[in-house]
Amino acid sequence: MPSDYDALKSKLEAHGQAHLLYFRDRLTDSERNSLIADIAEINVEESLEHFQQAMLAESQNDTKPLDSSMEPVPQDICGSASESSPEELESLENRGLRLMAEGKVATLLLAGGQGTRLGVVYPKGMYDIGLPSHKSLYQLQAERILRLQILAEELTGQKATIPWYIMTSEHTREPTIQFLSDRNYFGLDPMQVLVFEQGMMVCFSPEGKILLETPSRLARAPDGNGGLFRALRDSGIIDDMEKRGLVYVHVYGVDNVLVRPADPIFVGYCDEKGAECAAKVVHKALPREAVGVICLVDGKYNVVEYSELTTEKAEQRGPDGRLTYCLGSICNHIFSVPFLKRISGSKKDGLKYHIARKSIPVADPDTGESKAPSKPNGIKIEKFVFDAFPLAKTFACWEVRREDEFSPLKNRPGESADTPKTARQALLSFHQRLIAAQGGIIVDEDGHPISPEDAIVEISPLVSYRGEGLTPLVEGQRLRSPLQLNPTVNHSKKLADSDLFLPPEETVH
Ligand code: UD1
Repeated sequence: MPSDYDALKSKLEAHGQAHLLYFRDRLTDSERNSLIADIAEINVEESLEHFQQAMLAESQNDTKPLDSSMEPVPQDICGSASESSPEELESLENRGLRLMAEGKVATLLLAGGQGTRLGVVYPKGMYDIGLPSHKSLYQLQAERILRLQILAEELTGQKATIPWYIMTSEHTREPTIQFLSDRNYFGLDPMQVLVFEQGMMVCFSPEGKILLETPSRLARAPDGNGGLFRALRDSGIIDDMEKRGLVYVHVYGVDNVLVRPADPIFVGYCDEKGAECAAKVVHKALPREAVGVICLVDGKYNVVEYSELTTEKAEQRGPDGRLTYCLGSICNHIFSVPFLKRISGSKKDGLKYHIARKSIPVADPDTGESKAPSKPNGIKIEKFVFDAFPLAKTFACWEVRREDEFSPLKNRPGESADTPKTARQALLSFHQRLIAAQGGIIVDEDGHPISPEDAIVEISPLVSYRGEGLTPLVEGQRLRSPLQLNPTVNHSKKLADSDLFLPPEETVH
């Protein structure tokens, strides 16, 4: 037996992990080598330390819940889209667009999640929610970036490029790259799309044993969206950001169909406030809605994740009846580049790990076959991106209308919330409202006005990012549903019905 193997065995025994060699005698030489290489790749001691710290933090939260250290954030750091005048919004937007024209703004998509709740084996960004156009989430986002570049150029006369960084993981990297390149990056310059990969972390049994996914491979999962900071450093992306002279990076989750990548209003607000970190929020719909809440913890800006918020705090209301912790975080943040540099600069970013109990595929001890039980059998430990907030010197919060900006795709079709159907309806309804607000009337086949709920209206992001530019196209027009407003038409004249009607490929319910 090679001495390497003996050394590994004693090291594993010393850390209570000798079970990782359980299948050893049943493995071929090459499987055995690959297992040894897999184990050698991880720092067993450090991984166990992270696990123990995360478990300890969880048990401390059980005995002394975060509750006692939570407070609502002060009003003066919170701006609101619905409480701002159109002039104020325009001024913030122009400020953001100018920064884009100066090449100071990028957007960064967090696309390393496994999308287990949605139940697809491919990256969530590739999902088709059944819009008339059948655009994927990735395509909607890419086209919104393209549109912003045009708006920035129209405002300033300068050509704008908004880099699109995409953080993937072992599972999502290849399919994402393939999908984007097969579709010519949806019109973006391939040089502005930068895909990089986050790290992985081993998975554990509740007792702290590292799990084997197969007899010759450890069970691993992405290290959470807070793995961003380490990935920025390890992949050299932080250097790329500096080289490009970027100042702000808008970081967002993949699944919100209404997301506004690099939203210039939000960027403008963050810049006006001089904030190193900012969070876009919506008013929580229900006390137990699955969104984190922005608050102060021990006097520092933070998000308490829905999985860690006690019912008492979730339901707490002020004298006016409003939820005390009503600012729901929608995984939509801005970080300044100096801040990202500071956090990702040192090997230890200072972000803690959180516990997630999950159903993890493991090797059956008898057959070696990899099986995922129906109930959680193990623990993943993950970092959260917003755990960097307390490290910010300046922080701001921007509240937006949920119906305009937040409808996440989380769950399988048929579930009660956040499904492909709710996401599709949210987008169609937003577009219907944009048309109605500009004086367009949606009619049925016989020319009769139809109710907003029945209207099927999809506006290509290449035509409008948030409703701008629609008035000359739709004001006073009767527009037949189903309607797709695409950029092929001549925008300098009013549209005829025939320009606008494009039947969807299949009926949308
Ligand atoms: C997330 C937020 C939550 C917010 C909610 C809104 C975090 C930790 N939680 O919760 O506060 O209220 O969205 O919808 O941000 N991801 C990675 N790598 C990973 C894990 C996740 O890139 O290792 C990405 C996902 O692809 C996704 C985003 O991070 O784009 C959020 O992850 P998800 O698992 O969907 O978080 P939620 O629990 O829904």
